[in-house]
Amino acid sequence: MSEDWQAQYRAKIEQALEQAVPSVGGELYAGVIDAMRYSLLGGGKRIRPLLVMEFCRLCGGNPEDALPWACALEMIHTYSLIHDDLPCMDDDDMRRGRASCHKVYGEATALLAGDALLTLAFETACSPSAGSVPAERALAASWELARAAGVNGMVGGQQIDLVSEGRAVPLEVLQKMDACKTGALIRAAAAMGCILGGGTEDQRRSADEYASSLGLAFQIVDDILDVTGTEEQLGKPVHSDQEHDKSTYVALLGLEEAQREASRLTQRAVAALEIFGTEADSLRALAVRLADRKS
Ligand code: IPE
Ligand code: IPE
Ligand code: MG
Ligand code: MG
Ligand code: MG
Repeated sequence: MSEDWQAQYRAKIEQALEQAVPSVGGELYAGVIDAMRYSLLGGGKRIRPLLVMEFCRLCGGNPEDALPWACALEMIHTYSLIHDDLPCMDDDDMRRGRASCHKVYGEATALLAGDALLTLAFETACSPSAGSVPAERALAASWELARAAGVNGMVGGQQIDLVSEGRAVPLEVLQKMDACKTGALIRAAAAMGCILGGGTEDQRRSADEYASSLGLAFQIVDDILDVTGTEEQLGKPVHSDQEHDKSTYVALLGLEEAQREASRLTQRAVAALEIFGTEADSLRALAVRLADRKS
């Protein structure tokens, strides 16, 4: 895999996402379509779809065959961000370098745009034109996605986040919260990639170990950047967690210990990829770069 694998995949992802949301028709409900496009096509690192495609390749599949599921996952992630920014949740006015969806389109339309992106995700993954993936793999991947997005995954984690505001929760609760609100979708990326590529049980287990560690490290670094980053770099408000008295690794353990934990988890993620050999250097480098990211 060449060094610019991310750029190559990203170009495919952007193109597929652009085509997935209707830009014509629906004149009577154009507002919600505009809001969906605004949030979905307005930047973002696209980490989750990259993982889907790369794990598909590592398991012997064609990464482009995984595109419908890669896009579906990015749609669900984007919906989670739209809702996460609403005044009733984190009440953040900026996302991906511009005004949050609800600041531009209003709360009600932002709510609907999130709902519509969630539904569009499954429309995209289940589409008869979703490509040449065998039906049983397509179904298994879609099932992983549904489970990860739902109440025992991202949604459950968001609820733990809300009820943990203003409280000193035990470390186990924090871990569960992060594993659900952020880890679940990242694990689903790895699982779907392996399923779609026809990976073995051992490959799936290793991929899950990588994704579990990466997912936790990813949220810890996000919490750290809320304290140490700038709005320009992050494209979203800083010090938001402190303002809302959120339970985070930084709040519970302090900056240094949070940083140590993120490094430890990153090393664990890197080590988990042994079964894939040097072919997985792409994902080892990705884990290291994400731990060191500034945005
Ligand atoms: C932000 O996710 C929310 C978290 C789970 C920490 P990302 O940092 O992947 O956001 P985008 O997609 O790049 O905007
Ligand atoms: C969000 O966590 C996780 C989601 C499921 C959206 P945060 O609330 O920390 O994400 P940011 O910092 O707003 O991106
Ligand atoms: Mg939040
Ligand atoms: Mg937030
Ligand atoms: Mg955050």
